[in-house]
Amino acid sequence: EVTPAFTQGLPKAELHLHIEGTLEPELKLKLAKRNHVDIGQSSIEDVRATYQYDDLASFLAVYYPAMNVLQHEQDFYDLAFDYLKRAAKNHIRHVEIFFDPQAHTSRGIAFETVINGLYRATVDARALNIDATLIMCFLRDFSKESARKTLEEALPYKDKFVGIGLDSDEHNNPPLKFARQYEDAAAAGLHLTAHCDIDQKDSIEHIRQALEIMGVERLDHGTNIVEDPDLVDFVANHNIGMTSCPLSNAFVSPEMKGKEVLELLAKDVKVSIHSDDPAYFGGYISDNYYAIADKFNLTKDQVVRLAKNSFETSWISDEAKALYL
Ligand code: ADE
Ligand code: ZN
Repeated sequence: EVTPAFTQGLPKAELHLHIEGTLEPELKLKLAKRNHVDIGQSSIEDVRATYQYDDLASFLAVYYPAMNVLQHEQDFYDLAFDYLKRAAKNHIRHVEIFFDPQAHTSRGIAFETVINGLYRATVDARALNIDATLIMCFLRDFSKESARKTLEEALPYKDKFVGIGLDSDEHNNPPLKFARQYEDAAAAGLHLTAHCDIDQKDSIEHIRQALEIMGVERLDHGTNIVEDPDLVDFVANHNIGMTSCPLSNAFVSPEMKGKEVLELLAKDVKVSIHSDDPAYFGGYISDNYYAIADKFNLTKDQVVRLAKNSFETSWISDEAKALYL
């Protein structure tokens, strides 16, 4: 029987984690005070009371304004290092951390402030026995031109991050909007992933674009793929990773896409379990594993398979991978 202790103790790779989504109310209040930013709330209960959302747009409307408390390099360091300490308790051995530079540069914070603070935390994570890397995401509801500028700013720092991703509001913002940036990033030697959020308008078309045209190595969420058997064959045959986040799914879909994850597992797709925005969706990675294992009666073997898939589809070296498979 799968217990919370079992999901916690299992060595895992975290591949779908937005660092801004790890901003806990405690740190939010501490940074608000330190930086003299008025966030409109002064207690943890008040902050939590604002956490009301039932779709992607209503979540993002709470999520982005909170980032105002992040002002200085040290704030980004503290955010990431607080998360990494939690990751260590969750027996995460490798983590690829998403960050959204445009959520910060658009409010006047320099790109280098963001990446230098986050990167320094990933270096210090070695003392916690965690191998940590960064993935830069484009905000898909911002313009192509903004993405172009962001990649241009980022490329001089390309030894500090390993890949690019695509997140934020998917409605009418297909992957192809960023085809040029994906091409340029691949040419610069960066890895590629993209969100295809659950139950979006044009979900299947977005998944198809990301896989067949842009050549992503992983799909973040993407579980609507089960509606298209040819695309399921494609991800199975090409070892494409699929990062599913049960507790964030639970906010918009009562079954947290558990049936889809089981179907993908049965078809030998490299699906794995992750935490998305744990400070906002009620749990870190072990809680996500436990939530789906408990609701769908997963066996220990299935849970171990999910964890192995996370290492297999991660962007660590083959030597490091071999340690976990
Ligand atoms: N940014 C942070 N979390 C996200 C999610 N679940 N989907 C899209 N963009 C996000
Ligand atoms: Zn996400």
